[in-house]
Amino acid sequence: MKSIVILISGRGTNLKALIDAARLEDWPARIVAVISSREHAAGLAVALKAGIAVDVVDAAAHPDRLLFDQKLAQALSRHQPDLVLLAGFMRILSEDLVRDYHGRMLNIHPSLLPAFKGLHTHRQALAAGVRVHGATVHFVVPELDHGPIIAQAAVPVFPEDSESALAARVLAEEHRLYPRVVRWMLDGRLALVGSRVRVDVPQDQLLLDGIVKGVRS
Ligand code: GRF
Repeated sequence: MKSIVILISGRGTNLKALIDAARLEDWPARIVAVISSREHAAGLAVALKAGIAVDVVDAAAHPDRLLFDQKLAQALSRHQPDLVLLAGFMRILSEDLVRDYHGRMLNIHPSLLPAFKGLHTHRQALAAGVRVHGATVHFVVPELDHGPIIAQAAVPVFPEDSESALAARVLAEEHRLYPRVVRWMLDGRLALVGSRVRVDVPQDQLLLDGIVKGVRS
């Protein structure tokens, strides 16, 4: 049975989606720990409620990035994860740490990368006037939001959209997308070969299409 560690900083709705998926009978992995970079992240309660061990490596207490990364590396290695999932984790990781988990560390980003890297992606999308927005699951590489793309979920942007309406629409798709990609990883259908993603998944599953469906939320 493979082991997963999930890194969070905030409310933990993607964490909850992953926990729900991991509860399925034939799920071939266990979430062994959740590590938060914030002491009061709401996601910690989500993990505890599910009986998952939690750990805090407090970013506020470690302004020195290198020291923070050392602590995080120690916390991670205590759990020996096969897979590390970033789910709303708000710290940029050092190159060394990312390299240690090369091909075994995934992130979900709330935009159709390579568009709208960084923060406030929904605001960026509205400002740019795009008609299609979404979320991306990618392998983590040292450069922020630059990792090889695995799969995406697309949603329409409506003229009357507020930032929060658009965020909610994307988030609902994130919750479908991330567990699905993790499952492929666990089933050995997905790998990072050099800087290329190798997938053994039908093409139509690599893009969750909320556009044709015209999903609203
Ligand atoms: C999500 O939108 C995720 O894509 C981004 O941060 C947000 C985390 O939300 N990286 P939550 O903590 O999973 O609710």
